[in-house]
Amino acid sequence: MSLTRVHNFSVSLDGFATGEPQSREAPFGHAGGRLHEWMMATRSWRELAGLPAADVAAGTTGVDHAFADRFAPGIGAEVMGAHKFGPPGWQDDPGWTGWWGPNPPFHTPTFVLTHHPREPLEMEGGTTFHFLDASPEEALRRAREAAHGLDVRIGGGPSVVRDFLAAGLVDHLHVVVVPILLGRGTRLWDGLEGLESGYAVQATASPSGVTHVTFERQ
Ligand SMILES: NC(=O)c1ccc[n+]([C@@H]2O[C@H](COP(=O)([O-])OP(=O)(O)OC[C@H]3O[C@@H](n4cnc5c(N)ncnc54)[C@H](OP(=O)(O)O)[C@@H]3O)[C@@H](O)[C@H]2O)c1
Repeated sequence: MSLTRVHNFSVSLDGFATGEPQSREAPFGHAGGRLHEWMMATRSWRELAGLPAADVAAGTTGVDHAFADRFAPGIGAEVMGAHKFGPPGWQDDPGWTGWWGPNPPFHTPTFVLTHHPREPLEMEGGTTFHFLDASPEEALRRAREAAHGLDVRIGGGPSVVRDFLAAGLVDHLHVVVVPILLGRGTRLWDGLEGLESGYAVQATASPSGVTHVTFERQ
C-alpha cells in the first residue's frame, strides 16, 4: 500500500518550521540554516545532495544519519508548497527553477502546490516539477498516480504539511525538534490539537542535541 510520509521536518522548540521574512537571500528568514544543521552534517544527506566524496565521507553516521537515510527509499513522488519551491515573487520569474540547482535532491516527480501553475519543468536526475492548483486530496491522488505504487512524501513547508495533517492524509510523520527558540515565523502545529491520538508516537534523542519524534498512524 502506498503511504504518505513526511521526513526530516525540523521545528524549533517553540514550534516554528521557518523564520521570517523569507527572501531569495534567506529562504528560512532569521532562522538561517539552524533548523537543518543536524541534517546537513549527515553522510546520508551529503550523498543525496551530490557533495564531493570527501565531504560525504566526513558526514556523521549516527542517529541523525539513520533518520535522514529514510528520506528517499520507497518514495515515488513528492508534494511541496509554493513557498518551499521559491521566495516570494518567484511566480513572476519565468527563469526560477527552485533552490536546488540543476539536479534537485528529489529524483522523482514533484508536485508544487500553487495558485499560479505553469508548465512542467524537467530537471536532471529524475526530478520533474509539476505545478498544481488543487486540494490536498487531489494533489495526493495525482502524486500517487505518478509514484506507481511507491510512497508519496509531503515535503513542506509548514502550511502544506499542516493542511495534509488536518485532512488526515499523513501516515508517517518525522519531526525533528531542534533546541533553538525562534520566537517568530511559521508554526507547524497550529490547529492540530489532539493530533497525537491517531498515532503511535516515539521519540529518540540524538547526541547532536536534536530529538527525532515519529508519528505512525495506528
Ligand atoms: N522546517 C523544515 O523542515 C522545512 C521544510 C520545508 C520547507 N521549509 C520552509 O518553509 C517555508 C515555506 O513554508 P510555508 O508554510 O510558508 O509555505 P508552503 O507550505 O511551502 O506553501 C504554501 C503556499 O503554497 C500554495 N498552496 C498551498 N496549498 C495549496 C493548494 N491546495 N492549492 C494551490 N496552492 C496551494 C499557496 O501559495 P500561492 O497562493 O502563493 O500559490 C500557499 O501560500 C520556507 O521558508 C521553507 O524554506 C521548512
